Order: sequence, then structure tokens, then C-alpha cells
Amino acid sequence: MATLKAEGLTKRFGGLTAVRDVGFEARPGEILSIIGPNGAGKTTVFNLLTGFLRPDEGSASLDGKPLAGLSPEARCEAGLVRTFQIVQPFKGLSVLDNVVMGAMLRAGSVKAARIVAHRVLEELDMLSLLDTPAGSLPIGDRKRLEMAKALATGPKVLLLDEVMGGLIPVEVKRMIAFIKALRDRGLTVVVIEHHMSAVMQLSDQILVLQNGQPIATGTPAEISRNPVVLAAYLGPNFALAGEAAC
Ligand SMILES: Nc1ncnc2c1ncn2[C@@H]1O[C@H](COP(=O)(O)OP(=O)(O)O)[C@@H](O)[C@H]1O
Ligand SMILES: [Mg+2]
Repeated sequence: MATLKAEGLTKRFGGLTAVRDVGFEARPGEILSIIGPNGAGKTTVFNLLTGFLRPDEGSASLDGKPLAGLSPEARCEAGLVRTFQIVQPFKGLSVLDNVVMGAMLRAGSVKAARIVAHRVLEELDMLSLLDTPAGSLPIGDRKRLEMAKALATGPKVLLLDEVMGGLIPVEVKRMIAFIKALRDRGLTVVVIEHHMSAVMQLSDQILVLQNGQPIATGTPAEISRNPVVLAAYLGPNFALAGEAAC
């Protein structure tokens, strides 16, 4: 279990400030969602947290320990693990072998890693796909594989970048239940998601970004009636009750 804290994160690309003064605290057993229009800076926040990019200002810590200077691999070993918006499996490898690669981070042997990978794939209801080459999976299964690879590393904090994107409703429902189960297990979960019904069902806290800047934070009930968020992103007709019924 671990608390992920970000303070004043700022990232500039040339003249563009992609992320400006973003801060939050994500705690064990909680789901924090980051929402906002395309280009708002959401994925850049994940890149800053996981060490793929270096912030121009601000910092992040895991259980109070600064992450600055740690490589993405070292952050992964510390328990901070992400999925990618654009899924990146080893296409020629089987589903099982992709997940074994994730499990090798902590397992002492390939045999032990295979046991972990089997367990994770069973939880995700993917045992029928063990030998399927990752490159031939449809998008819904690729998203689940991305989740499996991340989970096999034994994370404490899981960062999920649009894992619902491209899923059909039954798959979304299954993913929501799965993420809730991870939260109930004590994982800290940070979700970037456009699927608003899922966001509203899952989140303990929501952080809204627009043009890199935080414009609101709050519970789903608060965010869904925040006039600034309705104007910037959700639209004037957004209603929590209607969404939750979908
Ligand atoms: N490596 C990069 N180099 C230059 N600009 C980038 C880079 N990564 C992201 N951006 C820009 O930063 C802004 C935020 O992008 P991103 O974080 O991907 O947004 P989101 O995930 O919210 O859609 C966009 O304008 C994007 O074009
Ligand atoms: Mg993105």
C-alpha cells in the first residue's frame, strides 16, 4: 500500500505549457480520476509521475519518498506502475509471455513468473487466450492484457490511461468491477478516462484539467454539478443521475 503525492507539477514543451501546477494525493484503497478534454495534459501527468518525462517544476513522492531522479524501472520496482493509452504489447509474443515479462520484475525465476502470470490472467478472465499472439487480439482484449502486464509487476499504485477506450459496454462493465476489486484490495488507483459513466461510478476524487491546468477537484457529485466543469468539458446537459443509469 502506498500514497502517491504530486505537488506543483509543471511541464513545458517549447512555448506550450502542457501541465501547470498539478497537485493531488492518491491514497491506498482510493480511486482518483483525472479527466479533461483531449490535449488537457492528462497523459503528460502520468509521464511525469512515472519518470518518462522530467518536470520543469514540482515533484512527486511515494509514501513520502521523493521520486525525482528515479528511472521508470526504479519507480516500477517501488510499486508505481502504469498502463499506456496506446497499448504496447510485444506483438509476436503470446498473451502469457507478455504477462510473464511483467511478472519477472519480482519473481525469482521464470517458473515463479509463470505462476504469477497465470493468476493475474485468471483474475482477468483471459485463460482461454494464453497462447494467442498479443498482436492478433482485438482492442478490448489488448486493453485487458495491458492491465494484466501492469498487475503482474505487483504494483502498489496503478496508473490507468484510458483502459476503457474502445471497449464495448459489457467490457466496460467488467473493467469497472475489476478496478473496484483492485481498490478494495488496497491498491491506490489513478485513472485517466473519458468514459464518464465509469468515472462517476469509480471515483473517490476527480481532478479536472483544462489546457494543462487544474480547474476543479471534488467528488463525482460535486464535479458533475460544477458549472466550470460543465462549461469546459462535460457539457450543459450532463447529469449524474442520467449517467449512472446508463
Ligand atoms: N513529448 C511531447 N512533445 C511536445 N508536445 C507534447 C508532448 N507530449 C504531449 N505534448 C502536448 O502536450 C499537450 C498535452 O498532451 P497530453 O498530455 O497527451 O494530453 P491528454 O492526455 O490530456 O489528451 C498536447 O498539446 C500535446 O500535443
Ligand atoms: Mg492522453
